[in-house]
Amino acid sequence: MSRRFRHHVNPLSEQYLAFTPNPPTIVGTALEVELGCAEGEFLFRRAMQKPGHQVVGVEIRRDLVARINSMAGDLPPDQIVQGIFANLNIHVPVLFARETVDRFFINFPDPWFKKQHHKRRVLTPELLGQLCDALKPDGELFFQSDIFDLALDALAVFEEFGTGRIRNVLGPWSFMGENPYGVPTRRELHVTEKGGPIWRMLYTPLS
Ligand SMILES: C[S@@+](CC[C@H](N)C(=O)[O-])C[C@H]1O[C@@H](n2cnc3c(N)ncnc32)[C@H](O)[C@@H]1O
Repeated sequence: MSRRFRHHVNPLSEQYLAFTPNPPTIVGTALEVELGCAEGEFLFRRAMQKPGHQVVGVEIRRDLVARINSMAGDLPPDQIVQGIFANLNIHVPVLFARETVDRFFINFPDPWFKKQHHKRRVLTPELLGQLCDALKPDGELFFQSDIFDLALDALAVFEEFGTGRIRNVLGPWSFMGENPYGVPTRRELHVTEKGGPIWRMLYTPLS
């Protein structure tokens, strides 16, 4: 990544709590959302794989979002990519109305290793509730990480706080071996090339 772009921002600092993002206008045949899309490489691959789908990336680094939207302007009309500058810790209910999202991807979220920084992590019981609200009844919620402790914590959030709302498609407390979507993220490519393990989970709403 270019050195022009900051690598980490604190999502709980005042400047990232004091703005309201605009929700996306739904224009695609399906709405797919990557939460924390960074440079957006996955968004562009996914849009090429799924013409007509609206592939939205939510990202807290504003300069990356501007670049994604600039690049998206050069795509053919059936490849729909949109970046949204927003803070996942607070903005999901503002961005996505009830039962409007076909798929959420949480790909390699920032780990915030230090205990005192865990509160900056994206996946919380509160966020899970908001994602469940926004998912369509046949929607999907996918998570992957190459950091085992983080994946385990995420699995516990899904299993313990998703009770009655979502089910693990492979059975309770199960990880998924392969990425079922066939398009990698930047981080996923990096880890795969080095031969590292990746822990994945896929959930769908309970009807
Ligand atoms: C490790 S990167 C993963 C990028 C990409 N998903 C991938 O798999 O290659 C995590 C991204 O999430 C973004 N992020 C972290 N906290 C966020 C928040 N609260 N709201 C929006 N984006 C956030 C970071 O800025 C970063 O770009």
